[in-house]
Amino acid sequence: ANPSLLILPGDGIGPEVMAEVRKIIDWFGAKRGLVFDVSEDLVGGAAYDVHGVPLADATMAKAQEVDAVLLGAVGGPKYDKLDFSVKPERGLLRLRKEMDLYSNLRPAQCFDALADFSSLKKDIIAGLDIMIVRELTSGVYFGEPRGIFTEGNERVGINTQRYTESEIARVARSAFELARRRGNKVCSMEKANVMESGILWRDVVQEVHDKEYPDVELSHMYADNGAMQLVRWPKQFDVIVTDNLFGDVLSDCAAMLTGSLGMLPSASLGAPMANGRPKALYEPVHGSAPDIAGQGKANPIACVLSFAMALRYSFDRGEDADRLEKAVEKVLADGVRTADLMQNAGETAVTTSQMGDAIVAALDAS
Ligand code: NAI
Ligand code: MG
Repeated sequence: ANPSLLILPGDGIGPEVMAEVRKIIDWFGAKRGLVFDVSEDLVGGAAYDVHGVPLADATMAKAQEVDAVLLGAVGGPKYDKLDFSVKPERGLLRLRKEMDLYSNLRPAQCFDALADFSSLKKDIIAGLDIMIVRELTSGVYFGEPRGIFTEGNERVGINTQRYTESEIARVARSAFELARRRGNKVCSMEKANVMESGILWRDVVQEVHDKEYPDVELSHMYADNGAMQLVRWPKQFDVIVTDNLFGDVLSDCAAMLTGSLGMLPSASLGAPMANGRPKALYEPVHGSAPDIAGQGKANPIACVLSFAMALRYSFDRGEDADRLEKAVEKVLADGVRTADLMQNAGETAVTTSQMGDAIVAALDAS
């Protein structure tokens, strides 16, 4: 059977960038014999408009069956006043929760052609290629007790940072597996100096390392120092593994080392399925960008690179992932730019569709 892919374009620029990825999927089918069973469905506001919920049960069931899900973006002003239970982002949260996607991969990679684009000095980010692995389903965003309570004559807001050994061990494994396919180096970040969960985190990551991944180089760092080091000299890192809260902050920080939101892919992985592949959802980091939706201005590269991650992590096609990333690199080196990547007055921007076509042409030439 062909590998299966569920495409959920979503709202705003989601469908616009996904249309470009469809061109690339078709290219791999025609030119590389990599034919996918593609199905497409609704998520977010688009699903709410039709079903009254941001993710229909049938779509959820389909997501559980396929080899990988590729999502555009959800949300928009039209849906801002909806009840929380049917807000577009709840569709995405349901996918993450029911697929139990505990390992969130956020690469920070610098394309040479965009090395001037960062606010940091060029030598700090040129050639940068790091991966942040953020625990996504536990920690302080989910721990109980939580709430706003009354204590004496004032209110108190409470969240609980809570991690079990198995929750730490599984995301650690995900990071070590990844490191073996990259630079073979993991830095684990927590605050073991002031947090009990941090002490446990450090212990368990070390145990998993010693028992199962002694060949991978492991170091530990306090997360606040990690934030400093990421900006000071990010090339010291290969894979960083950290909890949900620190990962939220550190991954946004790392992402901006290299430039535009329109360039950033992500993957969220869960436990291995019967076929040995992890449950997986791939999506650009950006949202539905209502300010530019419908104008052909969106940069499709974040979504294209998310598909490259799918090729690498869900379909074992690392060479094809490299091929696609090189095509993106070539297009950027040729000076093809969507509006978000413009730096100098006098440059002209290409449209979303022209960027997609340029990537396909670069694939053809590869
Ligand atoms: P956003 O990421 O949609 O946009 C932030 C800024 O970046 C905007 O100026 C936008 O034009 C620009 N931008 C984003 N992606 C771009 C691309 N591919 N090419 C060129 N420019 C791009 O974040 P914002 O404005 O905070 O949220 C807009 C909507 O998206 C909200 O409804 C929000 O809830 C939703 N959202 C959804 C996410 C998801 O689906 N995973 C993630 C973040 C926000
Ligand atoms: Mg964040």
